Amino acid sequence: MTPRYDAIVVGGGAIGLSSAWRMARAGMEVAVVDPEPGRGASWVAAGMLGPVSEVHYGEEGLLALTMASARRWPSFAAELEADTGSDIGYRTTGTLVVDVDDGDRAWSEDLFRFQCSLGLEVERLSSRRVRELEPAVAPGVRSGLLVKGDHQVQTRRFVSALLAAAAKRGVTFHHQPATAVDVDGAPGTAGGATVRGVHCDGTQLGAPVVVLAAGCWSGSLAGLPDGVVPPVRPVKGQILRLSGDAERPLLGRSVRGLVQGASVYLVPRADGTLVVGATMEEQGFDTTVTAGAVYELLRDARRVVPGVTELALIEARAGLRPGSPDNAPLVGATTVDGLLLATGHYRNGILLSPLTADTVAALAAGHEPPAEMAPFRPTRFATAPS
Ligand code: GLY
Repeated sequence: MTPRYDAIVVGGGAIGLSSAWRMARAGMEVAVVDPEPGRGASWVAAGMLGPVSEVHYGEEGLLALTMASARRWPSFAAELEADTGSDIGYRTTGTLVVDVDDGDRAWSEDLFRFQCSLGLEVERLSSRRVRELEPAVAPGVRSGLLVKGDHQVQTRRFVSALLAAAAKRGVTFHHQPATAVDVDGAPGTAGGATVRGVHCDGTQLGAPVVVLAAGCWSGSLAGLPDGVVPPVRPVKGQILRLSGDAERPLLGRSVRGLVQGASVYLVPRADGTLVVGATMEEQGFDTTVTAGAVYELLRDARRVVPGVTELALIEARAGLRPGSPDNAPLVGATTVDGLLLATGHYRNGILLSPLTADTVAALAAGHEPPAEMAPFRPTRFATAPS
């Protein structure tokens, strides 16, 4: 097969690009296969790096992972900025969670108790204190939680920097869809199975390591043996971008609102843009923007920050998160020698990029991966070959 690389990454989103960059930085010859690198779910994502404000009951194991990746973010961002000379908009301004009625307040009290029981750093705020911190928040909010350690990154700058850094480190981009993974042999048989490369439209690319990082499409490639196909599905998220005044921004930090049982988030950018998201919809591979979703997002955002209605609506878009059966990613080796998975990141793809990339780069080089990723090996879902 020609050409030959040390590693091929299928999928050029935040996870695939971070992995490719890290491997190339370690001296490997890497290719990325994606018809439109950087333009999938990562392009739509708000970029909240919020392991504490987004913690969910029953997902304590995932919390250990998201916290570990959050700790890697400052150095990861600094190295990426040093490699590209560009500012990726990594901001450490914290996150505020606010509740708008008594039911939401009870929910946020429960969340606070849960966060405290896990030893997380969070501060309970009165309504008055919330408005001192963020005067644009609605006077009617009942209370708030301040999570100083939950940060954000400007996703489009992040993805653009990854594209530039990867190219600078010699990564080759094949702007084609990957159609199949080439596997020799079968898992569980004498001799086992080994990956040989990837088939694209009209091209065959060879490598001893293939990283499947195609988000919710990761299960769609031909050639994957039974038991290796990742159980990922698309979870649609519709999201809005509003344009505001950079000199007089509406918010100084990310605000997550609990509005009659629903959740809405507002993420301010340094240029005055406000990102408002996001729906959670099981609609298959549909990326239609619906009037109902735009209405509901703006209705809930307005309950939290009334001034949003003064801003210009500049974009409404839908992205597809790669959901997995336990809401946690699948990162690591498979029963096919050389075939790595890096998918299923669901709501945490941007946050988990540093730890995932370091895991992929370690495994591709034959090194020990970060211990925090061990519970998230893809083989936890493996079924016996039929
Ligand atoms: N992490 C935010 C979202 O998935 O909408």
